[in-house]
Amino acid sequence: MKALILSGGKGTRLRPLTHTGAKQLVPVANKPILWYGIEGIVAAGITDIGIIISPETGEEVKSQTGDGSQFGAQITYILQEKPAGLAHAVKVAQSFLGSSPFIMYLGDNLIQSDLHLFVDIFKQQALDALILLRQVENPSAFGVAEVDPQGRVLRLIEKPKNPPSNLALVGIYLFSPAIHAAIACIHPSPRGELEITDAIQTLIDQGKQVEALQLEGWWLDTGKKDDLLEANRIILDTCLTPEVLGEVDPQSQISGRVQIGIGSKLINCRVRGPVIIGKNCYLEHCFIGPYSSIADGVTLVDADLDHSVILQGAKVIGVHQRIVDSVIGQRANLTVAPNRPKALRFMIGDDCQIELV
Ligand code: DAU
Repeated sequence: MKALILSGGKGTRLRPLTHTGAKQLVPVANKPILWYGIEGIVAAGITDIGIIISPETGEEVKSQTGDGSQFGAQITYILQEKPAGLAHAVKVAQSFLGSSPFIMYLGDNLIQSDLHLFVDIFKQQALDALILLRQVENPSAFGVAEVDPQGRVLRLIEKPKNPPSNLALVGIYLFSPAIHAAIACIHPSPRGELEITDAIQTLIDQGKQVEALQLEGWWLDTGKKDDLLEANRIILDTCLTPEVLGEVDPQSQISGRVQIGIGSKLINCRVRGPVIIGKNCYLEHCFIGPYSSIADGVTLVDADLDHSVILQGAKVIGVHQRIVDSVIGQRANLTVAPNRPKALRFMIGDDCQIELV
């Protein structure tokens, strides 16, 4: 069995973070989202992995993720010239996939469950497609399934205005090679994409073996800021191993589960876990509250934050009001003058969101 991870696309919903980088590389608890998918796939015993990349962000995905050896896998990068849809990505990967069954994993999805379970069911029942469903409050934002009382899939619709159910398609699918013939039969949707939902619908209409499982445990589609913060909260809650490798001075107080990377220095700080602080950070006179992730090379001085994600190389200086539910991008610089500022001076990039609450 092979795996195909989709890490192309435009990432418009996570702008401005994704103006300059791939959305699948945005970190959750200081690790790129994409890597959680790779690790889950390898843990399910699949090591031959293709990753779909785009011309804009492909080089960055490649250079950070490498040839797969760090995950115990072999990675083949497959360029998709345009984000022409999930089924289009499978088409582009056809020579990599050959006649192998495969798991398709959307690179911005995170799930709690072990993929092993789904791979076993798919193989044991010799299915052509296994899809995962999850009840959601806003089905119109997803592919939606209409199922009969026995849970068999009758119909799949991509982002319907009037959803027939609240069962969303999770971005993890298992396919037999029959999917390639189904993709050959479909046409671009009204939004101009070759939809994988239409290809699965074709399999259903052809009477092929398509099954759906309802997903248990959490599922996060990290498309937007609040999804990213929620993913960060859950991963810090469930997966953080406390470890202090950096230097913490005697005036600092650390409580709860806290990880501090090598080369980082904390002076007179209060850190209340779960919190992860990367390598080579400098923190002085700060309060860092629960569910915060601070990436490598960040400087925080006289800052107070909670439930926030600070990306690599950012600087926050003199912000005594608590920063909450925030994401601060790479190398961003947020400085407040020592005496009460009389004016606000900004250089704010496109699509940024600033809320003074
Ligand atoms: O997250 C689950 C949802 O994912 C499903 O419920 C939907 O049925 C499915 O269409 C998909 O919807 P999204 O709108 O979330 O898809 P998005 O455009 O964000 O793309 C998902 C991933 O696939 C993302 O990592 C980018 C990548 N991608 C996307 C397209 C359209 C590609 O690599 N190539 C593409 O052409």
